[in-house]
Amino acid sequence: MLNGKVILVVGGAAGIGRATAELCAARGAAVVVADIDPAAGQQVATAIGGLFVAVNVTDPASVQAMVAAIEERYGRLDGLIQTAGVLKGAYTPVDEFPLETWRTVLEVNVTGSFLCAKHAVPLLKQSDKGVMILVSSGAAVGGSSSVAYGASKGGVNSLGITLAAKLAPEGIRVNVVMPGNIDTGMKRSVIAAEAEMSGKSLEDAVAASKLGVPEGVAQVLAWLVSDDADYVRGMITTR
Ligand SMILES: NC(=O)c1ccc[n+]([C@@H]2O[C@H](COP(=O)([O-])OP(=O)(O)OC[C@H]3O[C@@H](n4cnc5c(N)ncnc54)[C@H](O)[C@@H]3O)[C@@H](O)[C@H]2O)c1
Repeated sequence: MLNGKVILVVGGAAGIGRATAELCAARGAAVVVADIDPAAGQQVATAIGGLFVAVNVTDPASVQAMVAAIEERYGRLDGLIQTAGVLKGAYTPVDEFPLETWRTVLEVNVTGSFLCAKHAVPLLKQSDKGVMILVSSGAAVGGSSSVAYGASKGGVNSLGITLAAKLAPEGIRVNVVMPGNIDTGMKRSVIAAEAEMSGKSLEDAVAASKLGVPEGVAQVLAWLVSDDADYVRGMITTR
């Protein structure tokens, strides 16, 4: 259970983040839903009785303001679950890959994770059992549809490993979770691109993808942020 804990789910307006915010709230946590999409984020927060904070993870001032809002409302933070991410440039060959797209993906996925970690750490340090979870992807270790996305998730893995060692003396437990093939808006847009290339119908392409559900990944994340996972300090691959 997560009673008494304050958990921040960045990217909590949709997909894996949304399912995680819902499950953490159902397990008794006070949940902060932070996202760049205010309408969807507020809807999730209202439904679970949590707090919504608008954030753009690429903007340091916005990330700082997110943490300040949590400090003001709760005075503490026990868990950061960073799920915000983008996948752009699927199936674009490297020799045609726009630099702007590369920069956007790296900025959101890697710099965004760094900024969330950087600004959440002062509050996490004050928790008895501070936990940080970065959501990477199986794409980090092969098979990404996008050159930039695969590289960015490799960056998230390395950021997480580095932080796990650096923050252990501070009592903060860090894990990186690498899901794969989950039925969310992000994945559906990749499948749509794939269907267009192969001439398959979207329906057939979705069926062939054998997608997992966001709630399955949420089970892993909600467990990892709990005290039951105290001995887990490494990277976790899920479906
Ligand atoms: N769906 C999959 O198959 C899959 C597989 C592996 C990894 N992942 C990772 O899981 C995480 C969640 O992905 P998802 O599939 O649920 O995607 P999603 O698109 O459904 O949700 C991503 C959320 O991040 C938010 N977001 C995007 N840019 C942001 C920014 N700059 N600042 C703040 N919020 C921002 C979006 O508004 C959205 O609510 C991502 O990091 C993704 O890379 C997903």
